[in-house]
Amino acid sequence: MNVHLELATRAAKTAGQRLTELLGKAKVEQKGSTQNLVTQADLEAEEIITSMILDAFPDHKFLREEGESTGGADSDHLWVIDPLDATNNYAHGIPHYAVSVAYYQKGAPIAGVILDPTRDELFSAARGGGAFLNGEPIRVSKHAELSDCIIGTGFYYDRGALMERTLKGVHDLFKRNIRGIRRFGSAAVDLCWVACGRFDGFFEYRLSPWDYAAGGLIIEEAGGKCFDRNGEPLQLDSGSVIVSNHNIAGKLVDVVKWTD
Ligand code: IPD
Ligand code: CA
Ligand code: CA
Repeated sequence: MNVHLELATRAAKTAGQRLTELLGKAKVEQKGSTQNLVTQADLEAEEIITSMILDAFPDHKFLREEGESTGGADSDHLWVIDPLDATNNYAHGIPHYAVSVAYYQKGAPIAGVILDPTRDELFSAARGGGAFLNGEPIRVSKHAELSDCIIGTGFYYDRGALMERTLKGVHDLFKRNIRGIRRFGSAAVDLCWVACGRFDGFFEYRLSPWDYAAGGLIIEEAGGKCFDRNGEPLQLDSGSVIVSNHNIAGKLVDVVKWTD
């Protein structure tokens, strides 16, 4: 296993263990709105991951949700960290959340790991090396008709245009006779479920880089397609995602595309 993937895996597992210990016990605070929460668990998990990476690579940079970010897409060595994806689920005691750790070089994904501690499922990928679930290779689904597809989505902490547009996307997919729509609350897990074929696609109109930095690589390595909401190739700073298996990519983008 390459050194970055190995470190990301160790860090995600160590942080995930702490999240499991604190589930139902962590202090919850608001970050500016009643939907946007942070818990003691988010902060502790991020500290665990950051310090493990700095021990190994003292000069590497970070793009991370809770603490100060020290780098960006142009950094030579960048770690993109979501220590607890689905804080709302976690704060409500819903056991569906994840740790996401990715390593980038100059804006290009090199390694990504997403751990779902509840199911003990570790999704991972290194560029050019395929995607894995607990060490077993995974592939996206093969469905080619929207009527055979389950599509995930997510809502940003917004009750205006973003919410309306997401509801329109859901409405338009139902009009195309989609088999089902799901909103489980962890974008990182949603992306992994596209990668392993449980979902056929997923879209969310506003996300942060740490929500999809690892998941985008895992999907591509599993044979899937990743775009932003304009239908352009997904980049670290895209801020939105439309992802799917390769067979429905064009159809899904046509239905839910939201061009600026
Ligand atoms: C959130 C989750 C959620 C998505 C939100 C994200 P957080 O991440 O991924 O599924 O709909 O847009 O912000 O804040 O819990 O790390
Ligand atoms: Ca988070
Ligand atoms: Ca997140």
